[in-house]
Amino acid sequence: MTGWRLDDIPDQTGRTIAVTGTTEGGLGHYTALELARRGARVVLAGRSADKLDATEAAILAEAPGSTLEKLVVDLSDLSSVRAAAVAAAPLGAIDVLVNNAGIMAPPLRRTPDGLESQMATNHFGPFLLTGLLLPQLVASGDARVVTVSSQMHRMARQAPTWDPRAERPYRRWPVYAETKLANLLFTFELDRRARQAGLPVRALAAHPGFSGTHLAANGQFGRGSGGVASILDAAVKAVSQSAHAGAWPTLMAATDDLPGETYVGPSGLGQLSGTPQVVTPRALARNPEVQRRLWELSEETVGLRWP
Ligand SMILES: NC(=O)c1ccc[n+]([C@@H]2O[C@H](COP(=O)([O-])OP(=O)(O)OC[C@H]3O[C@@H](n4cnc5c(N)ncnc54)[C@H](OP(=O)(O)O)[C@@H]3O)[C@@H](O)[C@H]2O)c1
Repeated sequence: MTGWRLDDIPDQTGRTIAVTGTTEGGLGHYTALELARRGARVVLAGRSADKLDATEAAILAEAPGSTLEKLVVDLSDLSSVRAAAVAAAPLGAIDVLVNNAGIMAPPLRRTPDGLESQMATNHFGPFLLTGLLLPQLVASGDARVVTVSSQMHRMARQAPTWDPRAERPYRRWPVYAETKLANLLFTFELDRRARQAGLPVRALAAHPGFSGTHLAANGQFGRGSGGVASILDAAVKAVSQSAHAGAWPTLMAATDDLPGETYVGPSGLGQLSGTPQVVTPRALARNPEVQRRLWELSEETVGLRWP
């Protein structure tokens, strides 16, 4: 599986692909761009209508004639996720949902649902969004859900299977690692449940290595640019691969001929950079009992039993 290139992406004409977290300069932007360039109807999903407009303009400048839709969704707010799913209904069948949006290590914040913001944004929001969009994924006849995890999943001491509304000491980096482990547990459990239910939906995961996006600045300063945020942004970019290259594992997972449960990441040293290939998650991510516990907890937390 080494040596995958952008040229390996087949023509995407006739396919609808929703990508969350498409703000300019991030992985979602480049994921959306390359899919739109190849003919997909791409749904740009994000929490700011202005940022969606900016990404739409940037993609149309690079790939004129692209077919783009926009969907406002704040993944940290379950009522916003429910409203977005209603707004997405007229889109019809969805061939690929890319759960890309995420935040990393911000200060403690509780969401309107009483959840810690990283767990809400990185796991519970995407869990609910995927569940609500399931009928549209099934309607595709051959759908995929691709969720963006991280090498940081290896740092989690345990899977976050405790009551998510309980007060706990907040340690921002371990919590980020737990959310990224949750992304993998979710992916593998979704794939198994879809298979058991006979649904034409595969779940795969990807990670971008270390890529020069706004992730660090957003987490530390609550914004991707301006003052110290721009300085941190520039420092990250100086030592990482480009955000464009960081989108390649997601693009491979979304379009290559791969079975469910495949995890894709960069092939370079420490999986920090390089062309994408199939990679192996840590064993805990493959533990079916932990996967089941997180799934049931997530169903209870978001108030939706599925599939
Ligand atoms: N960059 C890396 O090296 C790296 C490494 C491992 C994993 N990842 C993962 O890659 C994914 C993409 O991150 P990135 O590096 O591209 O960072 P980024 O540039 O900060 O992009 C994150 C995207 O998520 C969106 N987002 C944040 N909170 C949201 C919410 N509540 N509702 C909806 N959208 C929200 C952001 O929108 P706003 O602009 O509105 O904030 C932005 O579009 C994340 O899941 C991250 O964990 C990145």
